[in-house]
Formats: sequence, structure tokens, C-alpha cells
Amino acid sequence: MHKYGTAAVNDRGHLEIGGVDVVEAAAQFGTPLYLYDVALIRERARGFKQTFDKLGVTAQVAYASKAFASVAMMQLAEQEELSLDVVSGGELYTAQKAGFPAERIHFHGNNKSREELEMAFDAGIGCIVVDNFLELDMIGEISEARGQAMNILLRITPGIEAHTHDYILTGQEDSKFGFDLNNGQAEEALTIALKKPFVHVLGLHCHIGSQIFETTGFILAAEKIIGKLADWHNRLSFESEVLNLGGGFGIRYTAEDDPLEPAAYVEEIIRKVQTETKKCGLKMPEIWIEPGRSLVGDAGITIYETGSIKDVPNVRKYLAVDGGMSDNIRPALYEAKYEAVLANRVNDPVEETVSIAGKCCESGDMLIWDLPLPKANTGDLLAMFCTGAYGYSMANNYNRIPRPPVVFAEKGEAKLVIRRETFDDLIKLDLPLGLPQTN
Ligand code: LLP
Repeated sequence: MHKYGTAAVNDRGHLEIGGVDVVEAAAQFGTPLYLYDVALIRERARGFKQTFDKLGVTAQVAYASKAFASVAMMQLAEQEELSLDVVSGGELYTAQKAGFPAERIHFHGNNKSREELEMAFDAGIGCIVVDNFLELDMIGEISEARGQAMNILLRITPGIEAHTHDYILTGQEDSKFGFDLNNGQAEEALTIALKKPFVHVLGLHCHIGSQIFETTGFILAAEKIIGKLADWHNRLSFESEVLNLGGGFGIRYTAEDDPLEPAAYVEEIIRKVQTETKKCGLKMPEIWIEPGRSLVGDAGITIYETGSIKDVPNVRKYLAVDGGMSDNIRPALYEAKYEAVLANRVNDPVEETVSIAGKCCESGDMLIWDLPLPKANTGDLLAMFCTGAYGYSMANNYNRIPRPPVVFAEKGEAKLVIRRETFDDLIKLDLPLGLPQTN
């Protein structure tokens, strides 16, 4: 078993996370269950922050809450003095309910509604990351109507392709996100923004992709952006106080993945920005980053109970679990790969290769193909690693399967932070025929 954070095997041969016996947690909270190693999230957060401190760079590390958004998670981000990236009214609302300091909230999104923007003004958030001309106009109007200033970053697409899965490329020219740097739209947006009396342009934002293993993409993006900033400094007297380089730092899902330590990405990026700004005679800007996956991804595991077993002789053995694409859509959506162990028998020798099937009515609902495991029986516990990012946050109710609970494990204590959905939760929005219509 690969070593993840506090993951360990206790003397009963059970997997332990944050000092919590996974078999006991499954008995207490039921399965499927998401279990987070809180110490690992804290370690990752501190790792990023300490790298900036070590290099004496003013920074904000904003947790990209789309990776896993909940009140408790946002409170944990606050405890670790992170900032917060939200991308919708719903994430902003969750942050408010978590008591997250508004001035450290950054609001993203390629189609924010007027209502969402008004909500951001009401909350007094730290900054809006502006994605398009419509939004820029709306922010201008709202800020003038209210006489309320707003900080913005302009999200630009630098035309750099990050080496990753096609679905999650966002930094290239042909993208729905941001203002293009090459075709002049970014400059047009800056010129417009600089004329708006209540809008303060803090700087630029770019996010080149997700699950990136190399620093090359970040370095190229930084180089290109700083070149443009030097040009804008000369021609428009604009100086960027902030450079936000987004998230995207890759993590190890399986032995095939070979990411850098999170801090290593940051260190190289900072050094590049330092040399490039110096070369161009610019002030060193604050560096902001927005890690999501690399803060919570490998801190989360999903515990399933094994159920039906279908052996197709000489073809494949299917081992079904009590969850699937409803709690983790990534294998079906991205062909994402995961590792797993039998949490109640971690030390048992590997005896066979099985494929882990979900319980949804869809052939594509397979969680892991060809997983080496001890001989599994119905009623074993399967722990699937690295489901902490984009697992719960992309969970759904396909087949009306209730979403599993989330438990935080730390120092031997298991704390329920999202309760299991009930069947009543599933029908709470349903209106039976025959009721008077009220909208
Ligand atoms: N900042 C921006 C502007 C983003 O669009 C994203 C992710 C992040 C930060 C955080 O990226 P991270 O550090 O988590 O890679 N659902 C996909 C990932 C989509 C990522 C979208 N944007 C998945 O499950 O792999």
C-alpha cells in the first residue's frame, strides 16, 4: 500500500486514517463513506504557505473549494489561514455560512449572473476574478450604482497548453474561460476596467489546467504574462499588484503518476516570476495560487462494502460495491485511475485481479479496472484512495442513490461533517401532482 498522510495499518490488519480504524468508522457511519485525513490537509496547506514565507514573497494561497466544498472544509481552510476560491453563489453561500472572512474570498466563473455579482458586493468579498466583457460591464454598473469599490483580477488565457487530460485544459486559446492574451482581448478588457471609477484592477489571473505534473506550463505562462505586463507598464502605466497563477498541481492517484512535491511547483514559479519581473524592471507582484486537488485530493478515501461478485470465466471477475459513479464520477467521465485495498484485511496477500463495479444502472459505471486484491468476499470493505478532490463535489443522485456522508479523521477522532442523505432528502424538492402551483 502506498503511504498517504497518516494512513497506516493497525495490528488488526485494518486500515487506519488519522488514527481512526476504518472498519470501525464504517460500522459507525455506514458505507459508502468519505473519510478525510485532516492532518494531511493541514500539512499540504502549511507546505504551500511556508514556501512563500521561506522565499519572502507576499502571497495568498486560496483553496479552490470546487474540489470539495462544505462548511467544515471551509472552516478548516480558515483555520489554516488560507484564502478561498468560490465559483458560484452556492459556494459563496457555503463560505458565508462557514463564517469565512469575506476579504479573503475570490469569486471565479465564466458566466456569473447579476444576482451572484450582487451577492459578492453584499458580502464585500476580497476580489472578483473577471472572466468576460459582460461581467466587466455588470461589475461597473453595480459598483457605480452602489458607490462601492471592488477589486478585480482579469482572467486571461495565455495560450499555453498544459500537459494533461483534454477535458480539463483551460489555458489554451480555444477555451471558454478568460480574455485572450494574444488577440488583444485582454488589453481591451484592461483598458475598459481601468476607466471604471469604482473598479480597482489588482492584477491578472491565469489557470493553465489541472492535474499537471511539470512546472513547464506555469513557467511559460509566467514568462508570457510578465512580458505583456512590461508592455502594459510602458504603454498604459499599469502595474500589476497581484499575479494569480491558478491551481492545477498534480497528485499521485496511482503508481503511474509522478507529481512534484506541492512546494516544489511553487518554488520554481516564484523564482521565475522574480527573475522575469527584475529583468523587465517591474515590481515583484504578490503571488496568489489556487490549489484544490493538491490540498484535499489524497487526503480523502472512500470506503465501500463489497456486494455481488460476478465471475465470467477466462474473461473478468466483477466485484460490485455499494456506491459508484454517483459518489465518484471521475472514472466514467475522465477514465480516471485509482488504487484500492481491502480495508479490513490490508495485510492479506494479493491473490487475484478483479474489476470494481459501481451499482448504477450503466455499464460505464466501473470504478477500477484490473485491481490486484486478496480474494474478496461479499461484505469486505474496499478503501479507494485519493478521492478527496472532485469526489463529493461532483457526486450526484443518479438512480436516486443518496450521497454518502463525509467524516473528518484527526488524532483518533472521527467527526461527521456532512451527514448521509436520506430518501426523504431525495424527494424534498419533489411536488406531487394535484398540488396548487406556487412556483
Ligand atoms: N483555479 C481555477 C480557475 C480552476 O478552474 C481550477 C480547477 C482550480 C483553480 C483548481 O484546480 P486544481 O488545483 O484542483 O487542479 N473536475 C476535474 C477538475 C476540474 C478542475 C476545474 N478547475 C477533475 O475531477 O479532475
